[in-house]
Amino acid sequence: MTARFAPRRLTFIAASAAAFARGVVAACAAGLVLGACTRHEGGAVDDARFFERHWADPLAAQGPLPAGLSALEASLAPQACGQCHAQQWQQWQTSLHARAVGPGLLWQLHLMDQAQANRCLRCHAPLAEQKALLAQAMAWPARPAASAPSYVPQDLAQQGLVCAACHVRGHRRIGPVPRGARAGATTAGAHGGFVATPAFSDSRLCAHCHQFPDDGPRTAGKLNEDTYEQWKASPFAAQRSCQDCHMPDRRHLWRGIHDPETTRSAIDVTLHVQRTAPGGYLAAAVVRNVGAGHHFPTYMVPKVELQFARVAADGSRTPLGTQVIGWSVDTELRHETADTRIPAGASRRFELAFDAPTPAGWQLELRIVVRPDEHYERTFAQSLAQGERLPPAALAPLRAAFEHSRSTAYELMRLSRAPRIAN
Ligand code: HEC
Ligand code: HEC
Ligand code: HEC
Ligand code: HEC
Ligand code: HEC
Repeated sequence: MTARFAPRRLTFIAASAAAFARGVVAACAAGLVLGACTRHEGGAVDDARFFERHWADPLAAQGPLPAGLSALEASLAPQACGQCHAQQWQQWQTSLHARAVGPGLLWQLHLMDQAQANRCLRCHAPLAEQKALLAQAMAWPARPAASAPSYVPQDLAQQGLVCAACHVRGHRRIGPVPRGARAGATTAGAHGGFVATPAFSDSRLCAHCHQFPDDGPRTAGKLNEDTYEQWKASPFAAQRSCQDCHMPDRRHLWRGIHDPETTRSAIDVTLHVQRTAPGGYLAAAVVRNVGAGHHFPTYMVPKVELQFARVAADGSRTPLGTQVIGWSVDTELRHETADTRIPAGASRRFELAFDAPTPAGWQLELRIVVRPDEHYERTFAQSLAQGERLPPAALAPLRAAFEHSRSTAYELMRLSRAPRIAN
């Protein structure tokens, strides 16, 4: 399949548009974007160059605005896209992508210089126009002097991973092959048409931000972010893409471990309890990853707690112990204490021996509690404890980030079993 960018006539708007983002991105000459865009797109899905170009690091500024677009069609604001793409806009607003520039990122930007910060923004607010706005807000030395062009709303950086970060390059709208249609470019219609490419339905589109490169940071030899490679090595790779699971019916929700329903679909749990000696019992929970196309959970931040308790006939509970599913790493990211993540399709057995009266009359209860932001909870608490060493402007967002990281925990499910007393 081929998708060719139609050549089009361009008019150049005020030079200040280019000057705005040039301050932060070296390679933002407009010709460079358009050069890339007029190249042949043959066999996009098998062509890694599409992804290299689409996620060039850093991304080039959009460049000169083509003639003939209304202010609404030209705008990079999600609200503007939402005037015509209402569903995607409503869904995106509820997603974590819309929160990618939150207090958890912002407090850390106060500890960095612009070059360090831009390494984070590659994934959290990747557009050159977003980086330019943040540079101005942070008063970094290399901030652009020009003010933002009319198609860049003042709050574009705060809005995180905006529509345009995935869909707009050189002012062209790029999206998946429309249902029942072929790849290619249209030039008629809103915003001067759009480019359709099968690359948008390919997991590699997500890998740019959900996979560290091979030379990225590692702990105990394992890449700190390895979701795409986990998926590729899994039985799901042949059947379901990231989009199939996280954007079913092309919905823009991207639910993951923060969402109880999505997380419930990831695992199958069986629970047994058996007497092993007079007064001695063994509880065993077997957790199988049946629905996550990568490790459950994929990286070090979330923890899933298996909380075992004995519940007496009168309802009183005696906690017996807790086991954890997850990759536990210290806050310096130097040592791992445990890695009990469950690869896609695999299962893991968690056992707990305990004493209890016979005859039973009690039940073993397993509560599964998810703490999606556990690693951040520890990291932020430690930074707060040394708060006097931080720039004052970092403190308020750090406190907000810490409170938020504690607030996301939820109970996933609760099972109970009567003990089996073999004779
Ligand atoms: C004035 C209305 C309007 C605005 C504003 C608008 N679009 Fe569109 N867009 C359309 C129409 C009409 C189509 C043609 C396809 C359709 O009917 O969905 C389209 C097509 C697309 C496609 C191709 C869909 C596919 O099937 O591949 C993408 C992607 C897209 N727009 C993204 C955006 C983004 C991102 C923004 C904001 C930066 C935006 N649009 C702003 C009207 C608009
Ligand atoms: C993280 C990247 C990302 C962001 C952010 C994003 N999209 Fe998409 N969008 C996609 C992908 C990927 C697809 C295709 C999914 C597939 O093929 O299964 C898509 C599909 C679409 C389509 C075609 C829908 C259809 O049913 O054919 C439109 C229109 C669109 N997006 C508009 C938007 C708008 C508007 C926003 C912001 C409110 C937005 N997108 C934000 C990645 C993104
Ligand atoms: C430009 C970078 C970028 C791209 C491309 C991207 N993501 Fe994300 N994604 C992020 C960031 C950053 C977050 C975290 C946002 C936050 O919580 O502040 C995130 C969060 C998520 C989450 C929420 C996880 C949770 O903790 O619940 C899911 C699911 C997800 N992305 C899936 C996808 C899929 C599927 C694609 C490809 C269609 C994709 N992402 C493309 C950067 C990206
Ligand atoms: C390769 C892409 C990438 C880079 C680079 C990156 N992040 Fe993230 N970040 C992500 C993704 C993806 C998530 C969400 C993961 C999830 O929910 O599973 C995330 C989540 C976060 C979160 C938790 C969610 C939130 O918004 O509070 C914080 C905080 C964060 N990143 C800060 C940073 C900082 C600081 C840097 C730079 C030192 C950075 N990130 C660099 C991809 C990236
Ligand atoms: C077979 C369905 C499926 C596929 C394929 C899949 N995921 Fe997931 N994903 C899930 C489920 C279910 C969860 C919630 C449980 C969990 O966190 O593992 C999840 C969770 C996540 C999270 C939350 C963070 C975490 O620690 O688990 C991110 C980020 C994510 N997926 C990204 C991706 C990306 C990127 C791809 C493609 C490389 C992908 N997923 C492929 C089903 C899938």
